[in-house]
Amino acid sequence: MAGDWLKGKNLLSIKQLSKPQIESIMSQSETMLHALERRERLTYLQNMIMATLFFEPSTRTRLSFESAMQRLGGGVIGFADSSTTSTVKGESLADTIEVVSSYADIIAIRHPQIGSAEEAAAHSRVPVINAGDGAGQHPTQALLDMFTIKMEKGRIEGLKVAIIGDLKNARTSRSLAYTLALFGNDLTFIGPKALQMPKEVSSELTKDYGINIETSDSLSAALNADVIYIPRIQKERFADINEYKKYAANYYTINKKFLSKATRDPIIMSPLPRITEISREIDNMKNSVYFKQASYGIPVRMAILKMILG
Ligand code: CP
Repeated sequence: MAGDWLKGKNLLSIKQLSKPQIESIMSQSETMLHALERRERLTYLQNMIMATLFFEPSTRTRLSFESAMQRLGGGVIGFADSSTTSTVKGESLADTIEVVSSYADIIAIRHPQIGSAEEAAAHSRVPVINAGDGAGQHPTQALLDMFTIKMEKGRIEGLKVAIIGDLKNARTSRSLAYTLALFGNDLTFIGPKALQMPKEVSSELTKDYGINIETSDSLSAALNADVIYIPRIQKERFADINEYKKYAANYYTINKKFLSKATRDPIIMSPLPRITEISREIDNMKNSVYFKQASYGIPVRMAILKMILG
């Protein structure tokens, strides 16, 4: 596939990408990973500036975007705390974007509202990347998740993937589910009934993508998976803290005992941060790839930035 199909484009949802396009991003990511391993000095984006506008907390996404841009020779401006910006004076998202798009060549935005990245793109004169819009989408996370599976399992097609936990609110789960469905992977959704994947998403995945979905509230349904993906319970999306506490007290935990019963030597993945859902006792096991997964955020975001701006 020609290398310029993402040039000048927004990246707002994983659903805008085809399978060959995702494969092309993974191939570019591998090239970037090798360049990083060789400690090459890259200057593809010299004289370009990225703005990171983070209206919600982040460690990995913001810092890996900023690191990726700098490793490509570019510069970074932005904020990690919107309470220090003119938003608190009442400035609209539209006006903020209008202004910032004259300060930077690309914008990565994280915002608590679903659809905020689309709104930003509508007011921007430079490409916009959705770095997480509420319980909506997190496309660059899905791409680095796919890259992790490819690097750690050697393939994607044919793998059994279990996605566990707060499926209703975890945008990373939703973005990854759509991406895996595009590759034809059957999925197991494990979560408490009230936190299961929204029905409209599950039926879209089965009807439009033609995959099989098994649902369960029991962790044992993940014992025959090749890939186990377990985000934290999304505390910030609960209107009632007591509801959150109720589910948090009975949340799932991947530990040594669980892994001793697993049949397919699964890799354990998480977008992180980890709260209680992955026991620290498995951190040093070869199955535990979540920190490596976070490190893949750099080559994947380098590939995306280079493909949009290069
Ligand atoms: N995976 C992820 O989005 O992590 P952060 O919230 O720390 O960016």
